[in-house]
Amino acid sequence: MRFTAFITAALAAFTMSAEAVRNLQKFKVQAKVIEGNRKFDGLWASLYHTGAGTADVYFQNNRTAAFSAFLNHTQFQWVYNGVSQIPFALNLQYQTYASWGPLEVSPGYGSDYYGKGFVFKNGNQIVDKFAEWRGWLVCDWWHQVPELFWIQIGAQVEVIPSCAKVELIART
Ligand SMILES: *[C@@H]1O[C@H](CO)[C@@H](O)[C@H](O)[C@H]1NC(C)=O
Ligand SMILES: *[C@@H]1O[C@H](CO)[C@@H](O)[C@H](O)[C@H]1NC(C)=O
Repeated sequence: MRFTAFITAALAAFTMSAEAVRNLQKFKVQAKVIEGNRKFDGLWASLYHTGAGTADVYFQNNRTAAFSAFLNHTQFQWVYNGVSQIPFALNLQYQTYASWGPLEVSPGYGSDYYGKGFVFKNGNQIVDKFAEWRGWLVCDWWHQVPELFWIQIGAQVEVIPSCAKVELIART
């Protein structure tokens, strides 16, 4: 009995330490569908150029082509290919009277509140401790690829067929 309990505890500790991602450690971001359209399951996050130094987060199926990111304490920073001298951070964008809102990757270390709440949960899941954040959503959207959104407080989201609620998993 005691031996079994020891083995179980040791395995649990091993699993956690094997998966845990640390501050500043680089990873790629994989979508794990928890509700809705399964076609987004397992896709990898990349950056979609939208302007001078700005990008949207979208998802595609090639891990090698995915962009690397890391958490710098509560900032979600991206390694934006070709412009490595400049920091790029993920920011939520509040959408008035909406159930979910977009995000933007832009130069800097993340704006107050909207770019300073990202933390690891259960070792390698990325969540946002910002009080208005309720989860992640992926939808086929205006770039005609799956795009990342965040669910806003107060919303009762009915997951429409072109979307899925997801977890974001950091894979090293
Ligand atoms: C995946 O992306 C890499 C890097 O961009 C590229 O070299 C490779 O051909 C891609 N693989 C597929 C199957 O498209
Ligand atoms: C982490 O963020 C701080 C500012 O909050 C910045 O000074 C530092 O250079 C960042 N580290 C990296 C590796 O980007």
